[in-house]
This record gives sequence, C-alpha cells and structure tokens, in this order.
Amino acid sequence: MESKVQTIGVLTSGGDAPGMNAVIRAVVRSALSKGLKVKGIERGYAGLLDEEIKDMDSKSVSEIIQRGGTILGTARCMEFMSDEGKMKGAEICKKHGIDGLVVIGGDGSFKGAARLAYFGINTIGVPGTIDLDIPCTEYTVGFDTAVNTAMEAIDRIRDTSTSHERCSIIEVMGRHAGYIALWCGIGNGAEDILLPETYDNNEQALIEHIIALRKAGKKHHIIINAEGVGDSMNMAKRIEAATGIETRATIIGHIQRGGTPTAVDRLHATMMGAYAVELLAAGKSKRVVCFREGKYCDYDIQEALGMTKTLDPFMIQVSKEMTR
Ligand code: F6P
Repeated sequence: MESKVQTIGVLTSGGDAPGMNAVIRAVVRSALSKGLKVKGIERGYAGLLDEEIKDMDSKSVSEIIQRGGTILGTARCMEFMSDEGKMKGAEICKKHGIDGLVVIGGDGSFKGAARLAYFGINTIGVPGTIDLDIPCTEYTVGFDTAVNTAMEAIDRIRDTSTSHERCSIIEVMGRHAGYIALWCGIGNGAEDILLPETYDNNEQALIEHIIALRKAGKKHHIIINAEGVGDSMNMAKRIEAATGIETRATIIGHIQRGGTPTAVDRLHATMMGAYAVELLAAGKSKRVVCFREGKYCDYDIQEALGMTKTLDPFMIQVSKEMTR
C-alpha cells in the first residue's frame, strides 16, 4: 500500500526520558524502510519555530539505542503555546516538505501536536516521560529505567541507613503522580511510601509507625516520598525532633532522568516509534500511540487528553501489607 505521507519529521519535547533515542531510531529506520524521507527537528517545538531541521539517514541514528537523553535535544517553548506559534510551526513543516510529524513527549507536547494536526500536519504522539502519568497508556518510555535508577540509589541509601540506625526519607520524581514512588516503595521494601494520590498528611501516624518499628528491632526506616508530596528536608527535621531518631533526607533528582535505557524501555520505544510510522503511512493523524493490555494501539489525542488513570488499588494494598 502506498504511503499517505512522504516526509516524516520527528521531535522530542518536554522533559527527556531514557529511551527517547530508541524511539527516534525506530521512526527513522521504519520510515526509511518504507521509502520515506525523515527530518529531525532539534530542541522540540522551539527548534521547529527556529527551523532547526536536518535530514536523517540510517547512519544518523547509529549508536544511539543505548544512550540516555535525546540526540535531538528538547525544550519547553513559550512561543509555541499560542495559536500563532502553532500556525507558524505548521507553515514551517510545509515549507520543509514535512507532511507527517512524530512528537515524542508527554501530555503538554500532545496538546501542541493536536493543534498542528488542525493546521494541516498529520501528527502522531509517542508517550515519552519517566512519570508514567499519561492516562491513555499503561506504559510511557523512560519509566522502567527511571525506576531502576531510583531503586539502585535507594538500596545504597538503605545500606548506610542500617549501619547508622537512621530514618531515611528519599524523594523520587514523578511530578504530580506517584508511580515511581509506588514501584520503588514496593521494589525497595520501604517502611513507608508517601504518594500524592493517597497521603493524608497524617505525620503523627508516620512518627508512631517509625517508633513502633524501632521498638520491634528495625535498624532503619526507609520512607519513599513522591515529589508530588515534597517537603522532604523539613519533614526529616520534624521526624528527627519527634522520634529522637537521626533522620536524613535525599532528593534523587535528575539522576532518574538520565542513563542507559533498560531492555523494557528500548523494546517499547522501538515498537512505539515503528507504530507511529505505520499510522502516518496509513494516513492517520491526531493519534497517540499507547500500550494497553499487552498490545500497541492508538487513541485520538483529544480523547486521550480527556482520560484519567489511577494507581492500582491492589498495588497500594500490597504496598501497605509489606510495610507492617
Ligand atoms: O516529567 C519528568 C520530570 O522529571 C518530573 O518528574 C519532574 O517533576 C520534572 O520533569 C522536572 O522538570 P525539570 O527538568 O524542568 O526540572
């Protein structure tokens, strides 16, 4: 079947995530295998408006599947927020012969993609964020690597926490969502997990839990605190004052965003990138690639943006059972 587009543009937007490079590689190589041209747009929508656009060939994506970050760079762009900015972006795509665009990023990036579609450019979103907070999909590229990076860091903190018989509060990323915190909390065997979705600010209960486990002989007390709850440094001071147990806070921060992607991220990234090209070649637009119930599928971007998702209640129940 003949492709409905001839030249595919690809950009990464918003916060970078391990595996974004693997998506770029998949987009380029899938498109080339269909006889299409590919153009890489640097620095996200900002680079589009500045016409930082370059031809991509198979060699230009060699040696990147294993690299964190994004070879195209990424940015947050104020000018693109306005409709004039998006119209300008669509015109620049047309000027460079780009009739199909793959946008790798999060919800904010997809809003821009939907509007570009309205202005005549076929666009497809691929979920790339460590936060796992895109409701239409059960997987977002970068999540597995970020969780594993955080988990390793937390294991190390646990070693020293046990030696010194301390309480350790470890803050992980996730913006307003608690996915990284919940997965690390379970995977690291934390004594407490504070999630923005469920934490009731009952610090007294937390303090009593720390004291009770210390009396029962626990030599450390690991609290995984999600970024969406925050306040880790002050929380550590308050807990130390209330319990008499030395308490330290660590914010893992951007270490979680970098590093070589795991096999899970490379696989999903490659499949989702290739899927995006299939959609464009079939003449589809304003869709977001998703992974649901073990399969790749796609949703209308607008519909996807209206969806909500919640943390798995069974995971939350189990996480509590493990911290008794
Ligand atoms: O969305 C990814 C993320 O790392 C969030 O977890 C975090 O809240 C945010 O980006 C940090 O953004 P920045 O890199 O702009 O500080």
